[in-house]
Amino acid sequence: MQLDVVTLFPEWFEWFSGQRHVANALTHGHELRTLNPREHTSLSGGQVDDTPFGGGAGMVLRVDVMDAALRGFYGVDPVDLRHQRRVLALTPGGRILDDSFVGELAAEPAITLLCGRYEGFDERIVQHFASDAVSVGRYVLAGGELAAMVVMDAVLRKLPGSLGHADSALEESFSAALGGDPEYPHYTRPAEYRGWKVPEVLLSGHHEEIRQWRRARSRERGAAGGGSSLP
Ligand code: ADE
Repeated sequence: MQLDVVTLFPEWFEWFSGQRHVANALTHGHELRTLNPREHTSLSGGQVDDTPFGGGAGMVLRVDVMDAALRGFYGVDPVDLRHQRRVLALTPGGRILDDSFVGELAAEPAITLLCGRYEGFDERIVQHFASDAVSVGRYVLAGGELAAMVVMDAVLRKLPGSLGHADSALEESFSAALGGDPEYPHYTRPAEYRGWKVPEVLLSGHHEEIRQWRRARSRERGAAGGGSSLP
């Protein structure tokens, strides 16, 4: 899969690319590229943003700058680009990212992630250049970079070669294998610590009982709304 990120802060993604599961994915043929709109602006001083019409605080990423950046990088009109590959505009008001959306994206051969900064994008970028507006939650980050990393992290771990163990992503929280419920609890050694014991069934070696126990815990968590019922 080819992942392109349009960002004013490409250096953030150098760190991201070096993380083990991302690096694994990249050595398995997946690709992560960055594109900095500042390198494509014809405005003086490398200007990429401007004050919002109608007034208000903050700065807005300019549509002409984004147009030039995408056109320069892909060699096509960005209005057509979104018909060739998924172009995701990261914005707090977009479609909330969940496991099924991640699965949808993981099936794409290529995606482009547009990171807004400051007050975000000129709305015409979202309307005319993006195929989707994506949110990682109903809160506002300083920019789309962390949101882009969230999207890519979740997508990459669904792809073969990213996780060490082939089954690791199959039976995880919210997956179809768990009926959309959160994952069951995990335990490891020691089997008892400060009097806190690991559930007996997990030590029993009875695979079917373990499977049933895990499914039941997963359902319980789902019924509780995903949050664990801590005292
Ligand atoms: N940019 C700023 N906040 C965001 C959010 N919550 N999701 C996606 N992109 C964002």
